[in-house]
Amino acid sequence: MLEVQQDKAALRARMLAARAGLSADERAEAGRLIRDALLSLPEMQMAGTVAAYYSVGAEPASRGLVYALWKRGTYVLLPVLRPDGDLDWASYEGPDSLVPGPRGLREPGEPRRGTGAVARADVVLVPALAVDRAGNRLGRGGGSFDRALARVGPLIPVIALLYDGELLARVPNAVHDIRVRAVARPHHGVTALPAP
Ligand SMILES: Nc1ncnc2c1ncn2[C@@H]1O[C@H](COP(=O)(O)OP(=O)(O)O)[C@@H](O)[C@H]1O
Ligand SMILES: [Mg+2]
Repeated sequence: MLEVQQDKAALRARMLAARAGLSADERAEAGRLIRDALLSLPEMQMAGTVAAYYSVGAEPASRGLVYALWKRGTYVLLPVLRPDGDLDWASYEGPDSLVPGPRGLREPGEPRRGTGAVARADVVLVPALAVDRAGNRLGRGGGSFDRALARVGPLIPVIALLYDGELLARVPNAVHDIRVRAVARPHHGVTALPAP
């Protein structure tokens, strides 16, 4: 268990260092490509409700995607980080509906729908530092999305947004880790996992 935590910490440091080397232009271009790939995905076009995240720092940009989904009438839920590390959810109602949250996050200021609200999403988009071919996901280390994804049904597409080099052969994982069903990358589009 401790060994897994150490392996994850080492991999996090490596992935964060690689992201730190991306220019603002590279990040913006990656965000546009991921946005367009996801907007044209049939599951996304049919989704009445999408649970997403509002990117900060060097995370794959999701703000344009969130805005575009909202503009075309999709109900978008965004996470509100609770002090215990779990995720509450509230609706995105345009760029002006966000307020500063903890750890530099931008969060929806709308009424909170509860930790169980994510279970009503037709598609769930999650951040990740790396994912492997089996769908094992490395996050920032808070375990928040493991808790949220434990409430999501097995048939719901859970898609992690990554840069091109972040789908790996193997990501260390523990019993509490919840796998994702697909990844979206700038130059590869959406890839279902586990790969056949
Ligand atoms: N379902 C859960 N309930 C309570 N705590 C959890 C749960 N899932 C994860 N955690 C906590 O989050 C911590 C970090 O999880 P980890 O998987 O290493 O982070 P991340 O998924 O962000 O990379 C775990 O050590 C655990 O304490
Ligand atoms: Mg985890």
